[in-house]
Amino acid sequence: MLVSGTGTGIGKTFIAYNLVYTLKEKGYKVGYYKPIETGVEDLPEDASLLCSLTGQGLEEVVLSKCRLPLAPYACTLEEGMEFDLNFIVEHYRKLTQRYDFVVVEGAGGLAVPIKKGYNYAHLALDLGIPMLLITYATLGTIHHTYTTYFYAKSMGLDVLGIVMNGFKGEDVSERTNSTIVKELTHLEVVETPWQEDRILPLPVRERIVRLVGV
Ligand SMILES: Nc1ncnc2c1ncn2[C@@H]1O[C@H](COP(=O)(O)OP(=O)(O)OP(=O)(O)O)[C@@H](O)[C@H]1O
Ligand SMILES: [Mg+2]
Repeated sequence: MLVSGTGTGIGKTFIAYNLVYTLKEKGYKVGYYKPIETGVEDLPEDASLLCSLTGQGLEEVVLSKCRLPLAPYACTLEEGMEFDLNFIVEHYRKLTQRYDFVVVEGAGGLAVPIKKGYNYAHLALDLGIPMLLITYATLGTIHHTYTTYFYAKSMGLDVLGIVMNGFKGEDVSERTNSTIVKELTHLEVVETPWQEDRILPLPVRERIVRLVGV
């Protein structure tokens, strides 16, 4: 599935890590795929973190790296980077032959362009995969989550569920955000806490895994 969501820095990698960790614990062979990572100075951070968990080599996980922390299409405009969509799709097919599950992570939010007229929703459709919608817990999330969900549906994407990530209990909107988002989308919403440890408590991870249908 595609781990995507409302934007950058909202916890896609954090949730992908927990998902992969839990599926591995259950005995599944899991691969991670971040076809394009941007904002890479030295090592690609997301890909390196997940490789440390899956045991994959970086070259299997990330196909293109851009120095600037921008949308892939913006990297094309700024740095002249070109992305080979056929190669990205072909590589995904290879990964699906090697693993029981492949967790694909986008760069930024769902509508982030990879090329002119082509974004991560188009990529999910070309890969034939559903998406897990990651969003944040605090004020503003209702609008961002609902519009992202609505866009995904309008594109014909299957949305497996929503992970509302990073509850700290400091923002008064945290008390009602997931209830309202559930009403608007009719989807399951899993709340995840902000915490020091990289691994979420088991019951929370089990709920995320159930969203994915395992
Ligand atoms: N629930 C959480 N508890 C503690 N730290 C978190 C939590 N969720 C995310 N973080 C931290 O917040 C930062 C941003 O999260 P993450 O890298 O997962 O975002 P992302 O959506 O993958 O961003 P990008 O668009 O750059 O890929 C990271 O340092 C991550 O460890
Ligand atoms: Mg990430």
